[in-house]
Amino acid sequence: METVSELRSAHEALRTAVLDIANRRAACLNELPVRRRAAAIEMFEHGLRCGLYMRAFAKAVRDCTGLPIEVNNLVFAAVYHDIGKLCVPAELLLAPRPLTPDERTIVQSHVTWGRVLARRALRAMRVPEPALRCAVEVAALHHERWDGLGYAHALVGQSIPLAARMMAIVDCYDVIVSPRPYKSAGSHSHACGIIEAEAGTAFEPSLVEIFLSIEHEVELTNSAWWHFPRVVRGQ
Ligand SMILES: [Fe+2]
Ligand SMILES: [Fe+2]
Repeated sequence: METVSELRSAHEALRTAVLDIANRRAACLNELPVRRRAAAIEMFEHGLRCGLYMRAFAKAVRDCTGLPIEVNNLVFAAVYHDIGKLCVPAELLLAPRPLTPDERTIVQSHVTWGRVLARRALRAMRVPEPALRCAVEVAALHHERWDGLGYAHALVGQSIPLAARMMAIVDCYDVIVSPRPYKSAGSHSHACGIIEAEAGTAFEPSLVEIFLSIEHEVELTNSAWWHFPRVVRGQ
């Protein structure tokens, strides 16, 4: 029950933040155009699942490395990491086909928008400064890669903030195991295999090792989500 109630409050916090932005054009999320609403809900739910995985991952990284990691800040940042997608055309986010190179560039701009939106939304929610800083950093840098081939800044290795390096792994996991408009859900073991194979290229090897050490907890969290969607989503 603890997990469900945490999900509910995370969901409420995210919904409130998004409504602050959406209210400029619509009275509530339900009045947004249908596709925009569907894209926002997909972003909500992906963020919430990532927040759950991140909680276990951040605790494990803290315990393995002894670093003074603020677990709650990382969970918060994970929930909001894709908030910049609210500025990307919904038809691209929901396209049931591969994107063209130009369309991909537009979708990739969500990290640039994310920096702006995360700061604006979380300030409106009076989020404490350390959590806000972490969320802005993660929203802006979660698509950087360990080998420097990521976007938008092509940062390399440890020049990528730890929170963003962790987010890249969590994000990859959820994208693989969740259904998307252009693909069906992959299996947990497939996702872990991809993450393991990308150690040293997309991801920091030592973080991959820690993530895989808690893979069973991550798998349980994932299957709990899909078993209780209506409770969690409040729909
Ligand atoms: Fe993203
Ligand atoms: Fe994401």
